[in-house]
Amino acid sequence: LAGRDGGKPLAGRHLLVTSGPTHEPIDPVRYLANRSSGKQGHAIAAAAAAAGARVTLVSGPVTLPDPPGVTVVRIETAREMLAAVEAALPADIAVFAAAVADWRPATLTDEKIKKGPEGPPPLALTENPDILATIARRTADRPPLVVGFAAETTDVIAHARAKIARKGCDLIVANDVSAASGVMGGDRNTVHLIGRDGSLETWPTLAKDAVARRLVARLAEMTATP
Ligand code: CTP
Ligand code: CA
Repeated sequence: LAGRDGGKPLAGRHLLVTSGPTHEPIDPVRYLANRSSGKQGHAIAAAAAAAGARVTLVSGPVTLPDPPGVTVVRIETAREMLAAVEAALPADIAVFAAAVADWRPATLTDEKIKKGPEGPPPLALTENPDILATIARRTADRPPLVVGFAAETTDVIAHARAKIARKGCDLIVANDVSAASGVMGGDRNTVHLIGRDGSLETWPTLAKDAVARRLVARLAEMTATP
């Protein structure tokens, strides 16, 4: 495998990664968000850069340092993430590891909402764009390999199989994020790789860095030109 690419199997490729949560403002001081440390997405960006790829990392708010050798685009909301992803195309491989907020507050107030005798304000929500599905279903500039993640707390594999069909992506990396799994914010991850043909591969529990390196090696194999 080291071969003529000298251990840089993704040399000449552009890999796009999303990572971290999105923050959806309610008012100037409050937001709605998912739990996500960004560790897995950032590790994938770092591993891809180490494998020789040009990497664009579109990241929501995280406390992690920028991975070396990676172009980082910082955004806050799902709509900003979609715009940044579209602006980064074309890409050879796109990996959607971000924990995007599925909904955002339907209205955004410019002024801080105050407590008052009328009680808590109603929080009406509206659906955010699905970035993975939008990119996977593009006709122009669809990355040849589109990889989604599936964060599930129950029936991980069944939900992930349904998700790959619904989203139109080529591969899903599914993981159990139930409280008992310790994945959220932790350094280790147990993942299942699910292919469009229904194929299933379960990897042993590994450090998130090791999951990233193994995934990047797999993506390089899948996109290798003979
Ligand atoms: N995703 C995305 N944009 C969204 C929601 C999800 O790009 N608005 C991506 C995630 O980055 C991940 C994949 O879609 O790669 C699956 O996310 P997940 O939250 O597991 O799936 P959903 O389709 O949102 O379904 P649900 O949350 O109801 O399980
Ligand atoms: Ca979701």
